Amino acid sequence: MDLGVEQFRLEGRTALVTGAGRGVGAGIAQVLAAAGAAVVVNDLHVDRARAVADAIVDGGHAAVACPFDVTDTDAAKAALGAVGEGRAIDILVHNAGVPDGGGRPNRFVDMPRADWQLQIDLNLAAMMRMVQVVLPRLLENGWGRIIQISSGASSRGLPIGVAAYGAAKAGSEALVRHLGVECGPHGVTANALALGLMEGLGRADDPKVEKMIRQVPIGRLGRGTDVGAAIVWLCSEAGGLVNGQVIHLNGGTVFGR
Ligand SMILES: NC(=O)c1ccc[n+]([C@@H]2O[C@H](COP(=O)([O-])OP(=O)(O)OC[C@H]3O[C@@H](n4cnc5c(N)ncnc54)[C@H](O)[C@@H]3O)[C@@H](O)[C@H]2O)c1
Repeated sequence: MDLGVEQFRLEGRTALVTGAGRGVGAGIAQVLAAAGAAVVVNDLHVDRARAVADAIVDGGHAAVACPFDVTDTDAAKAALGAVGEGRAIDILVHNAGVPDGGGRPNRFVDMPRADWQLQIDLNLAAMMRMVQVVLPRLLENGWGRIIQISSGASSRGLPIGVAAYGAAKAGSEALVRHLGVECGPHGVTANALALGLMEGLGRADDPKVEKMIRQVPIGRLGRGTDVGAAIVWLCSEAGGLVNGQVIHLNGGTVFGR
């Protein structure tokens, strides 16, 4: 085994990143592409997916836009088929998790069913759908990586109206644990990254953002590229020992500071 940085190169791998048209997903797509993977950039919004894919290609790396709604299995299969034969997915990063228009934070007692259903559909059911779309091929190939983007809200109660979101993310983490056991013997690992407070939640000089930063011992919020770097490790041969795990990427956050 190569013990240098070459072991982290992902040439020859194709990665599908859902919800990668902006935010965390865009950072993940950029880092995976820089590490050598061909990236299939998904988003609900065609323009967002294209902008991220074009920027990656302009930077000299490989990417293609692949817009579809991750809650629709048929649309996913059709869109993935349309981006070209031979582009078999080796790596699934299910990042889409913030519903467009709906699913607003709310005390659970006041949350309309349509809003909590949206959280379950996107954060749990869509993960299940996407895994079933790509997993047969990964098992057939005898190599694959499944990475779910989760949240610290899955493992602690928070007074910010995210009960349904947290419940859905917790479900996705349970799925990953079981997938790790079912798929590990076939060369396919499954893991979740539970994110903490990330950049993009407001301007740096916003008092709310300053308060958030005070809760993070490393003194800054997370970035999509931090998440991308962890994913490159998980996707490399060196990361193959990690399976069925939930890894917290949160700078050691201590809530209530
Ligand atoms: N930002 C944070 O502070 C934070 C913290 C913890 C966890 N997370 C998780 O990180 C992930 C990304 O969050 P973000 O803040 O970058 O979100 P974001 O809203 O900035 O970006 C999400 C992207 O997903 C797309 N999307 C939404 N629904 C979709 C669908 N049905 N099909 C395809 N694409 C869809 C959106 O169009 C958008 O471009 C989510 O899973 C979120 O739960 C974020």
